Amino acid sequence: MLDHADAQIQDGAAVAVIGRSGSGKSTLLNVISGIDRADSGVVEFGGRDVTALAEPARTLFRRAHVGFVYQFFNLIPTLDVEENVRLVLELNGVRGSDARRRSAAMLAEVGLGDRLHSAVDELSGGEQQRVAIARALVHEPALLLADEPTGNLDEETARQVLPVLLSLTRARGATLLIVTHDSVLARSADRVLELREGRLRESVAAGAESAPAVLAKPGSDNVAADLRSANERASSS
Ligand SMILES: Nc1ncnc2c1ncn2[C@@H]1O[C@H](COP(=O)(O)OP(=O)(O)OP(=O)(O)O)[C@@H](O)[C@H]1O
Ligand SMILES: [Mg+2]
Repeated sequence: MLDHADAQIQDGAAVAVIGRSGSGKSTLLNVISGIDRADSGVVEFGGRDVTALAEPARTLFRRAHVGFVYQFFNLIPTLDVEENVRLVLELNGVRGSDARRRSAAMLAEVGLGDRLHSAVDELSGGEQQRVAIARALVHEPALLLADEPTGNLDEETARQVLPVLLSLTRARGATLLIVTHDSVLARSADRVLELREGRLRESVAAGAESAPAVLAKPGSDNVAADLRSANERASSS
């Protein structure tokens, strides 16, 4: 599925990944986060080869340093809004009033400070996706992976949720990898990569106008994620 899909992504960059259905975009995110394992190739993250980590270190690494936003929100229906967000902190060892305070503050940032104890299925799609964004960022991950985050929202709602995702990620200096079919969303990224025939290619059509400024951002020459792969075929592990 992935074949010599090579890319270096700068710390703090917002990168859109485009490509037709079935081209392997979700697989790519799963390989980067270590959910799926590639037959060959490496994923380096902040100078560390995460592909070399065995379980459970790989899970712990992902839990601590990566946040996820999915197309279908993936919230836990038996937990209320604040509990959905707090769970991520608790999994990382943050408990009690500290965890409650941080979840509430994060939810206030996405505009849901007054919905802390609502059931998630009482919320609109846009609100649920804002809970998912809060959940993805509450533990201050270095990398946020978003797989078609506006794919299940109507256009107007998508236009409201997108700036929340981009601005909060940028405010934290986190790196964002966002899979999208949405050309407006892709244009808001610093850089656009197209996945085609297993390879990642720089897309010049979209995002070109905003790319140079951010790529030249001073003092950010750290490589957040360095993906080198040869004849990769992701296999669930
Ligand atoms: N667990 C799996 N086992 C075997 N094949 C899989 C698995 N997951 C995905 N595939 C196959 O790998 C290919 C790429 O799938 P992937 O989900 O990464 O595509 P995508 O680019 O995200 O597509 P979409 O835009 O429709 O979400 C598809 O042909 C799919 O059928
Ligand atoms: Mg997909």
